Amino acid sequence: MPENTNAIIEVRSLCKRVKDATGELTILENIELDVIAGTSVAIVGASGSGKSTLLGLLAGLDNATSGSVRLLGRELSTLSEDERARLRNGSIGFVFQSFQLMPHLTALENVRLPLELQGGIEAHEATTRAQALLEQVGLSKRTQHYPKLLSGGEQQRVALARAFVTRPAILFADEPTGSLDAATGRAVIDLMFELNAAQGATLILVTHDTELAHRCSRTVTIEAGRVLGRSPPGA
Ligand SMILES: Nc1ncnc2c1ncn2[C@@H]1O[C@H](COP(=O)(O)OP(=O)(O)OP(=O)(O)O)[C@@H](O)[C@H]1O
Ligand SMILES: [Mg+2]
Repeated sequence: MPENTNAIIEVRSLCKRVKDATGELTILENIELDVIAGTSVAIVGASGSGKSTLLGLLAGLDNATSGSVRLLGRELSTLSEDERARLRNGSIGFVFQSFQLMPHLTALENVRLPLELQGGIEAHEATTRAQALLEQVGLSKRTQHYPKLLSGGEQQRVALARAFVTRPAILFADEPTGSLDAATGRAVIDLMFELNAAQGATLILVTHDTELAHRCSRTVTIEAGRVLGRSPPGA
């Protein structure tokens, strides 16, 4: 039985170590974290503290060295690569710090891709939804552009639209406003909190943006691979 039945994410004694030239490097150590469904969490901390590594582990994009992550009631370490991919496609949106758009696909095709992978949706409906999201992030005039022809901020917004298009239960975003000017950043923040409010989506956001952190239900500070202090898991 999960310890906390409202938790959409439960992390216990999570460690991530990698081998490097000098031996073993500990990136994350004994992370404990519960996230209640429908809340928003800002993960903050200095550069190199382990925030992106933690986000990747929570979303099942990376394997832990030890400890456990229970995501939507599923213990990630017990799932095969395919099962994890299905869980992600069905319930998770992820905005990478480096965007990771498909270079050979247009903005519209990038945003439509998760819907195609999910299946069960007609092509024109997928296009309509992708187009609507690109409009919401202010890119209606860039739908046919390939990523390399887009500015950093534009790529970031395409990545956000792609993460939103499946209406995920959990949105993970790594510095989603990092490449945006203040006005565009605010629009993107509003969009994320609309998803949070309208669909009860849980937001897990890595950010250096104090305005964004303040709008979250809760802030978790990472320092040198550990969660600093204790904070309540709820809103
Ligand atoms: N695969 C790896 N091999 C070796 N070191 C790694 C690996 N992945 C991450 N690191 C190291 O782990 C630390 C944490 O990296 P991470 O990317 O999680 O930091 P971060 O908090 O997201 O930083 P930033 O704010 O700069 O994005 C860094 O010192 C990084 O160099
Ligand atoms: Mg990072």
